[in-house]
Amino acid sequence: MTGSTELRDKVVLVTGGSRGIGRAIVLAAADAGARVAFCARSLGPATDEVVAEADRLGGPGSALAVRADVASETDVEALFDAVIDRFDQVDIVVNNAGINRDALLVQTSTVDFDAVIATNLTGAFLVCRRAVQEFLAQGDGGRIVSISSMSQAGATSQAAYAASKGGLLGLTRTIAKEYGHKGVLANVVTVGYVETDLTRDIDATLRRSLVAATPLRRTGRPEEIAAVVRFLASARADYINGAAVRATGGLEEVPT
Ligand SMILES: NC(=O)c1ccc[n+]([C@@H]2O[C@H](COP(=O)([O-])OP(=O)(O)OC[C@H]3O[C@@H](n4cnc5c(N)ncnc54)[C@H](OP(=O)(O)O)[C@@H]3O)[C@@H](O)[C@H]2O)c1
Repeated sequence: MTGSTELRDKVVLVTGGSRGIGRAIVLAAADAGARVAFCARSLGPATDEVVAEADRLGGPGSALAVRADVASETDVEALFDAVIDRFDQVDIVVNNAGINRDALLVQTSTVDFDAVIATNLTGAFLVCRRAVQEFLAQGDGGRIVSISSMSQAGATSQAAYAASKGGLLGLTRTIAKEYGHKGVLANVVTVGYVETDLTRDIDATLRRSLVAATPLRRTGRPEEIAAVVRFLASARADYINGAAVRATGGLEEVPT
């Protein structure tokens, strides 16, 4: 255990915590003293490893993995039930689960478009709706942090992904306006290019242009995104609401 107390007494729920950025967010929350739950569409060695590492950082029993597909309303409801059953409350929710199906608009099938929207946007809606219901019932405010992308401004071959991430921004700003007076804060982290399974198949030329267009001349690390989420979840961010915080290494837009 690290002894950090920044999120002590808080319960954090992270969607898509089995690998990549979500895994780093789970571990950052555990390191900050929170009890932390996360979901993925399947459980196995990867989720076991995340639970073990979070328990090592936060203490035995501080982490919970739940199988849930955020695109399923039934799964999302069961996910929250499981978190409250185990930890009695939920204080901070991180919409991290995301997928892409990159293709030019005319080559994007309706099935692929719907799949991306279902996970990245409808999933976030289902999670936010239940989260706010819980926050209001608990009466002590709450935090929502959603992981968006530079692509929210539009990006070649990413019609579905860009639409989902742009929608996430609108959803977040609406929650910020509707529930700020109840102490519910909602923000987005606009992420640049981080090497994970999601970006593994990116074309080598595009990869080079992304790095070249990034003033830091390198890709981001999942831990660097998790550090921003940890800040937004903490009391140090008590006056940040409806914001899109950029963690892009200075990348201004996705090269075409
Ligand atoms: N990597 C980047 O450069 C980058 C840039 C900008 C934004 N982002 C955003 O950052 C977030 C995390 O991306 P990543 O790069 O870490 O991706 P990743 O390595 O592919 O991890 C995605 C995570 O989400 C889970 N997941 C996917 N669909 C799900 C669903 N329907 N229900 C529940 N869990 C689901 C995955 O687990 P299962 O597959 O087991 O379900 C996995 O844990 C995404 O929202 C992504 O759009 C990433």
